[in-house]
Amino acid sequence: MLLLRRCQTLTRFGSRNTERHLRVPSAVASCAVRLWSSREEQRSQQHGRGLSWRHTLAGLLAGTGAVLAYGLHHHRHKAEQADSIGDKTATKDSTLPIFSQEEVTKHRTLADRVWVTYKGGVYDITDFVAMHPGGDKIMLAAGGAIEPFWALYAVHNQEHVLDMLAEYKVGELSAEDQKKQQTVKSSDPYSSDPERHPVLRINNLKPFNAEPPPEILSDSYITPSALFFKRNHLPVPQVDPASYRLHVEGLPGGALTLSLDDLKKFPKHTITATLQCAGNRRSEMNKVKQVKGLNWGIAAISNATWSGARLRDVLQAAGYHPDVAQWARHVQFEGLDKDVTGTTYGASIPLNKAVSEEGDVLLAYEMNGEDIPADHGYPVRAVVPGTVGARNVKWLGKVIVSAEESNSHWQQNDYKGFSPGTDWDTVDFKTAPAIQELPIQSAITQPADGAVVDRSAEEVTIKGYAWSGGGREVVRVDVSLDGGKTWQVAQLRGGERGQASSPGRAWAWKLWEVTAPLPPAAQELELVCKAVDDSYNMQPDSVPPIWNLRGVLSNAWHRVNVKIREDEDEDGDEE
Ligand code: MTE
Repeated sequence: MLLLRRCQTLTRFGSRNTERHLRVPSAVASCAVRLWSSREEQRSQQHGRGLSWRHTLAGLLAGTGAVLAYGLHHHRHKAEQADSIGDKTATKDSTLPIFSQEEVTKHRTLADRVWVTYKGGVYDITDFVAMHPGGDKIMLAAGGAIEPFWALYAVHNQEHVLDMLAEYKVGELSAEDQKKQQTVKSSDPYSSDPERHPVLRINNLKPFNAEPPPEILSDSYITPSALFFKRNHLPVPQVDPASYRLHVEGLPGGALTLSLDDLKKFPKHTITATLQCAGNRRSEMNKVKQVKGLNWGIAAISNATWSGARLRDVLQAAGYHPDVAQWARHVQFEGLDKDVTGTTYGASIPLNKAVSEEGDVLLAYEMNGEDIPADHGYPVRAVVPGTVGARNVKWLGKVIVSAEESNSHWQQNDYKGFSPGTDWDTVDFKTAPAIQELPIQSAITQPADGAVVDRSAEEVTIKGYAWSGGGREVVRVDVSLDGGKTWQVAQLRGGERGQASSPGRAWAWKLWEVTAPLPPAAQELELVCKAVDDSYNMQPDSVPPIWNLRGVLSNAWHRVNVKIREDEDEDGDEE
């Protein structure tokens, strides 16, 4: 019997970055504003002293996008930051004037100066706003309290951000108005998020992002919904199925509005499809060089059955006919999840994928035979098989046929691939296409990295998943026990070759396994897997050539190191 002993217990991934933690590239500065940055650093940058941007806390209120994130310069002169941050913002400063809320509220424009309050302090952020033209959304906080914004983007309520805010302090809010503020409960927009299974490894709590332990993935061809990876950018919206309406727009026949019951009257179509986040396996890129984004392991991927109406059928009911393709190129999706500015999550897919009979794009209302759970888009989500997770819009509110791609932040300024040579100073998101179909992928789910195999077991079983985007079928998985010098072919499980209903529609992953004898002389093994799809696409052998600043499309050969423990005799000596 194979005995595997883990060197390390299962732990959460260390870093809890969020994908909102983007370094603000100069190229997107026009649609993004860094919320707080120290005056000292701004001056230094202006004078070309080149202070480094370490630790940028993503920072922007994206002008056209939905992301409120805050750019943050890390101070070089840490020693000068003797004051505790809490003290700086919370402590009363008797030398500063007291202002009423009414006075603060008068400061809502650059001309009148822009003031905000935080924990009883009054801050004049005009200079910051003036230095970042285009940051219109920052103005939403003007004249009021910043706390509601930080309730939504909880991650920004951090030491460094507060430190910078302290530099803009101009006064105290009157005790009377502070009391009033406290009685207005700052509600937590995540308070109605659903309960989640504790086995999930949380990468970020608010918004909720988590992946299952990898070995669970290869234990079941269909991933139970509770264990399916979860990737939310915003709070989970509460949608009442009775009043839910899906709006279909942009077609010559005018807008079509469908209730959930209406949608269920369309022929029900079921597919098995794997969803994978563009950031799956990002943590391996982080080992090469830090990227911005959630530190996903190998399990930001899962497989489920999905049932619903075909998007194609709904579009036809809304007036789609082939002439539309003469001017329309895209189908945009809008979610019902919103940020504080009311901006919704959005994405788009090519029109030809949406209307193709073989595209199998669903407006799904069931996942694994049940209503779609809240985290996965209840009551209706787009399922775009073969396409990156980001385009599978959850809590779907609108479908728009258009000549243009979605202008959402996630379509325009995120989820795009770049050269390893492109950095945040040179990146221009306009130059790269939005990711749609994903490349060939595979990973080893068992044994875990660092596991120990007993010599007495004589053999080792290696398991994993393999999948390719665009409906390309995985036809082979190669496994090596010696770092890639020699290879053997894995057995594909749960979906044999050719099971896909027709070529180009292999939407679901293949699980695979290999059982191999332990090499006699080896004390440790470097297990490697690589998959091949039916277009003979193969994974690249290492991460550096595909490294990119957002850590997307991470699909190098997957490597896992295990140790072989030699048998011990009864006295505890090695034999
Ligand atoms: N749809 C909405 N409305 N809001 C979101 O935050 N996240 C997208 C996509 N659809 C998202 C969304 C991303 S980036 C991914 S990877 C998938 O949903 C994740 O789907 P899951 O949470 O069901 O696994």
